[in-house]
Amino acid sequence: MNTKIILDCDPGHDDAMAILLAARECDVLAITTVSGNAPLHLTTANALLMCELAGLDIPVHSGADRPLLVPAAHAPRAHGATGLDGPPRPQVYLEATSADAVGCIISTVRTHDDVWLVPVGPLTNIALAIRQAPDIVGRIAGISLMGGAVGPGNVTPTAEFNIWADPHAALIVFRSGTRVLRMAGLNLTHQLCVGPEVIAALRADGGTVPTFMAGLFDFYLASYQERAGLEAAPMHDPCAVLAVSRPELFSFGARHVDVEADGDLTRGMTVVDERPGTEAVRNCDVAYSIDAAAALDLIVDAVRNYG
Ligand code: BDR
Ligand code: CA
Repeated sequence: MNTKIILDCDPGHDDAMAILLAARECDVLAITTVSGNAPLHLTTANALLMCELAGLDIPVHSGADRPLLVPAAHAPRAHGATGLDGPPRPQVYLEATSADAVGCIISTVRTHDDVWLVPVGPLTNIALAIRQAPDIVGRIAGISLMGGAVGPGNVTPTAEFNIWADPHAALIVFRSGTRVLRMAGLNLTHQLCVGPEVIAALRADGGTVPTFMAGLFDFYLASYQERAGLEAAPMHDPCAVLAVSRPELFSFGARHVDVEADGDLTRGMTVVDERPGTEAVRNCDVAYSIDAAAALDLIVDAVRNYG
């Protein structure tokens, strides 16, 4: 029996890959969308696009169209104006099941035991659900998120995009007291990268989904090459999925992690206590390394599986 998850996302190229991978690796009870890489109407359209393209029968619920307190910010340099720039967009006929992602998260957790929440965008929906229904914290199996970093950020010297985009929501999640909190931050996600060879292999496959993903990865890789001089592009969001479905591929360290919500220079920083022997409560399993070759095989297999 596959692990039950709710994938909360802001597609986003790597979110698109996370959707395909999650549908293969887990029992995805719902996809919920949030403002992040692009405005909410686009991240929702992109999630629906991926479901239609891959023939996934998963309800999509749109959620928060802005962060809790700070103004909405997006990532067009990484993902383009649509959030999913690159290949031609196919016509999409699927529609969102509701505009109540928060209600969906609460009712799904209340009616299913041991659901994992897997947020791979700003944490607004998850924080709102926890605030509205604190009982869900005791019912979930855990939260596996992509966000933060042990070390440098990407939008600022100290902050990663998902945490920076809604730092007050992140604060609520990191302080929620959930039984298990797994963090796939930039220190981890930059170990799992897609380069030109993988893209060529997907294109050579010739199937609709592999060809579309090759087009997405072309755009995504070019943006990382231009902005960061990288030769391969990090698959951030799939890491949070694999941390649930294949934890044996990771090494984790139990740490105390908190979020700087309002710092002038450090807004959105994940403050990871790495002091040996610290008495701070270890609220988070921080991912430090991944078997990248095995993870990449799973990614390529997942894409090819859809044909
Ligand atoms: C995160 O920000 C987004 O651009 C990606 O989808 C990922 O979730 C990486 O900082
Ligand atoms: Ca994302």
